[in-house]
Amino acid sequence: MSEIRTVGVIGAGQMGGGIAQVAAVAGFETVVFDAFEGAVGKCRALHDKLLARAVDKGKMTQSEVDNARKRLSYASSLDALRNADIVIEAVVEDPQVKKDLFKQVLGLVSGHAILASNTSSISITELATAVGDAAPRFIGMHFFNPVPVMQLVEVINGLATGPDTTERTIALARAMGKTPLPANDRPGFVSNRVLMPMINEAFYAWMEGVAEPEDIDGIMKLGCNFPMGPLRLADFIGLDTCVHIMEVLAEGLNNPRYRACPLLKQLVTAGRLGDKTGRGVYEYPAK
Ligand code: 3HC
Repeated sequence: MSEIRTVGVIGAGQMGGGIAQVAAVAGFETVVFDAFEGAVGKCRALHDKLLARAVDKGKMTQSEVDNARKRLSYASSLDALRNADIVIEAVVEDPQVKKDLFKQVLGLVSGHAILASNTSSISITELATAVGDAAPRFIGMHFFNPVPVMQLVEVINGLATGPDTTERTIALARAMGKTPLPANDRPGFVSNRVLMPMINEAFYAWMEGVAEPEDIDGIMKLGCNFPMGPLRLADFIGLDTCVHIMEVLAEGLNNPRYRACPLLKQLVTAGRLGDKTGRGVYEYPAK
């Protein structure tokens, strides 16, 4: 079993940036790539802020942060991932975009490198078709937002994923301080099969006037001990992502009960995507 020393991350957004930060802090050489120069700059600035906060709070020493920083590099060319022992993709939830990227990555990395997708619901077996004979090295490694805080990594084997790939991925997740748990390659895996219909139902409750958003969220927070109510969580995840996951569930499970709530879809049509656009169910003026 070849050891993972260098972690490559594709996508410097919220998820990719979080994965890269956790990997570097855990001691891995880490390269984070994004085709958009602006995204790389934003990611670096966020790392600076979060790592400085970790020192202020006494969670890391300054020298630990300095060492993590030395292990972290940022790239706007995919070529920088050449030496990665695992490449974790965290880009937009579009199967074609992901497949195109994996095809390119396959031509760069060594024959032992793991190809992992952080997809929230797209079939791992389908994505693995992009890499042909390398499908045994393809796996789902699903992190949760915010990555530095959330404990879980959902590990999803595709039909062809090899045992060595699963073992190395589980070992990496543990080395990153996470708890890996397995899920089969079915629509939404476990996390979004269970979470997303609950969020969708909260939109139906709002649409049907069962209660106002603040009260729906308050009831679920205080009554079920959720850290965020389902509507606040939808804003945090991104309403467009929620619609996308519901569509994957509806199509993959061929059941109308997974249809995205019309109100949720309407907010997306209006460009109200949640935290990232400054307005979703709620308003976030600072963003
Ligand atoms: N990055 C890094 N750290 C962060 C962070 C971020 N973006 N946001 C918050 N934190 C840290 C804070 O620094 C703080 O750390 P500390 O304990 O060392 O002080 C800690 O998290 C708690 O933060 P706050 O005190 O500011 O706020 P809260 O107590 O309200 O916690 C929260 C914020 C951790 C986001 C909490 O509300 C929560 O757990 N919410 C639910 C999140 C969740 O369900 N995520 C999963 C989404 S589903 C998903 O990702 C899958 C996808 O496929 C859809």
